[in-house]
Amino acid sequence: MTTPQVIAAGQAPGKIILFGEHAVVYGRPAIAAPVFQLQAHARVFADHECIVEAPDIGHRVRVENAPDDNPLARIVRLVCNHLGQPLPAWRVEVRSDIPIASGLGSGAAAAAAIARALLAAFEAEISPEQLSALVYEVERLHHGSPSGVDNTVVVCGRPVWFVRGQPPEPFAAGAPLHLLVADTGVASPTRIAVGDVRAAWQADPGRFEMLFDRVGALVWQARRWIEDGQTAALGEAMNENHTLLNAIGVGSEELDRLCEAARSAGARGAKLSGGGRGGNMIALVEAGARAHVEQALLAAGARQVVATSLLPV
Ligand code: MEV
Repeated sequence: MTTPQVIAAGQAPGKIILFGEHAVVYGRPAIAAPVFQLQAHARVFADHECIVEAPDIGHRVRVENAPDDNPLARIVRLVCNHLGQPLPAWRVEVRSDIPIASGLGSGAAAAAAIARALLAAFEAEISPEQLSALVYEVERLHHGSPSGVDNTVVVCGRPVWFVRGQPPEPFAAGAPLHLLVADTGVASPTRIAVGDVRAAWQADPGRFEMLFDRVGALVWQARRWIEDGQTAALGEAMNENHTLLNAIGVGSEELDRLCEAARSAGARGAKLSGGGRGGNMIALVEAGARAHVEQALLAAGARQVVATSLLPV
């Protein structure tokens, strides 16, 4: 049997939110960064009809008759509509090492990787803003009112200062920031956490607006500390953001356990990252403490620990 020939390929990284998740849905700023250690990869092969497959999770869809809310089919249709092309006789295969429903932007990265592979196969180019807008349309399937931070950071591929409805501002750290990203192993769809926060905000808008304001103020401070390379203050701000996320109602025992383990092992600070309730947390560490904190996270039950850094450019 001959190996099918790859027509084109595309990829996109996972992401972490350093500060501001959930409050960003309500107009406060957030700081997010790509995680290139975790990636989604897509490849396009010639076929008899238009098919998208995610073999890792056993999904295979014929785009022509897939329901409109299928995210794999949706991104293919969006790209074709954008280019004014009919559905091609191609099979798109997407594989990803980003855990699903874990706060690391797996859905946005898969959609961005598929879109990039298709664009390369069509020999077409679109701007990062246009690509991000297409991925946003897929994000809307995952939860009704995404802020847009996930699609922005996975497409932009740089740390960003993000405010809903405004162009993202890429920015750089003043000193290297070393982070560990640890998975609780508890799958937690963002849609549910975001929906529960919305219901709680509707029930008590005064309390939630105050919590979001406190998160927003912290994000502004954190930006200055990141740009000035003040890691000690930054670690404290992460701890405080985690406390506020618990008050917002998206914490969990597992997340608290991992954050506590990281701090006790010498991390400067730790917080949940993304939708919460489960998924991943991040810990800010000095380069020399990395191995020790990683061991502590694994001993406390982390399923996987990934090291990543934000470097001054
Ligand atoms: C998810 O990565 C971040 C949230 O703030 C949702 C959003 O911004 O759309 C929880």
